[in-house]
Amino acid sequence: MSANNHHARYAHIVGWGKYVPPNVMTNEELAKKVDTSDAWIRERTGIRERRIATKETTASMALYAAQEAIEVADVDPNDIDLVIVATSSPEFIFPATASIVQDQLGACNAGAFDLSAACSGFVYGIGLAAGMIRSGIHNNVLVIGSETFSKLLNWKDRATCILFGDGAGAVLLQGSDEYGGILSSVLGSDGSGGELLEIPAGGSKNPTSIETVMANMHFVKMNGREVYRFATRIMVDATKEALEKANIPAEELDLLIPHQANTRIIDYAAKALNLPPSKVFVNLEKYGNTSAASIPIALVEAIEDKRVNPGDHLVFVGFGAGLSWGACALEWTEPTIRRATTPQRAAQSKLRYQWSHVKSLGHRVLRRVDAGVSRTLDRIEGKKNGNGHEE
Ligand code: UT7
Repeated sequence: MSANNHHARYAHIVGWGKYVPPNVMTNEELAKKVDTSDAWIRERTGIRERRIATKETTASMALYAAQEAIEVADVDPNDIDLVIVATSSPEFIFPATASIVQDQLGACNAGAFDLSAACSGFVYGIGLAAGMIRSGIHNNVLVIGSETFSKLLNWKDRATCILFGDGAGAVLLQGSDEYGGILSSVLGSDGSGGELLEIPAGGSKNPTSIETVMANMHFVKMNGREVYRFATRIMVDATKEALEKANIPAEELDLLIPHQANTRIIDYAAKALNLPPSKVFVNLEKYGNTSAASIPIALVEAIEDKRVNPGDHLVFVGFGAGLSWGACALEWTEPTIRRATTPQRAAQSKLRYQWSHVKSLGHRVLRRVDAGVSRTLDRIEGKKNGNGHEE
């Protein structure tokens, strides 16, 4: 290696995975709960059904998606430097959902934190991870989008409960000297539109109280029309900016993977960008809006549908609460034909995760024993010192 440490590093997506709960809720089922209809929902949003978590949580879905991404990348969890979970429906206010995932993956050498940028969170995470990799600070960064919005919805509010669904998607980004991977990042925020999409209570401004609960302030509240107006404008602008920053001519964009919120928003953006349907990936009819998880889930399905190939130029573009938005342009480099998992490798992975689980339990027990022993020692020392003074 030369003494020149300014050589370019690139951040490539080398692994990908998704998890969606098997429990399906169709529009017809929703129409039994609130005053709506399958026809209205399909016409105004494009959504036919969504997945709703039953036993799953934001952390468990993130874990499944991450495990799949790690398998595809064939990377040892010990070599992961950072775990980012983009979510607005975290397991807790703290600890971070990312720390739970880091522990369960056995990613013992990784830092972990949650990223709160609503539906733009995954794209924010990609921008951050790519920056760290390109600067040489980190080499393997896991970016996960995971959400259980079903727990944050007012199932009596037809303006919001029809839109969202649960799920998770993950990618593993890895550094390489080879050109490609994430080539640009556009991140934006306009906090003046914060109240257009919010959960008003449960934070430090309006801590949970009987009053906040009675007023349904712990549920998602949205001004749909205003968010719609913002979304259509920003999808177009952010996509153009990401392409420009990456020096990719607009006609060389092969696939746009937009945040899956509403087909009308996506169709509007596609038209304004002059993109035929073959260059835009849409799967929201099956999942609704899964917030930070929507782009990674869509990416995995685009790969499965063979719509992503080495050499392709892609753009991820997201928007949401904040208001926030983000886009990144990339050149895809990784072969997308998955290596068949041998039973031996599957068994190895299973064993590795079981072992991480046992180690984690071991750490918890050790921490308790350590605390108990330290307390006892302190007491003995204290007595000794006390006695010493008295004598
Ligand atoms: O990740 C970012 C998350 N947010 C978004 O992406 C949301 C962006 N906004 C949208 O997607 C759309 O604004 C919605 C799908 C939420 C709503 O569509 P719209 O075409 O903007 O409808 P609207 O809010 O203007 O409502 C039209 C009518 C109203 O009735 P009136 O006042 O015209 O009599 C609503 O009360 O539709 C009514 N309506 C419904 N009817 C049946 C609203 N929700 C429903 C419903 N079923 N679920």
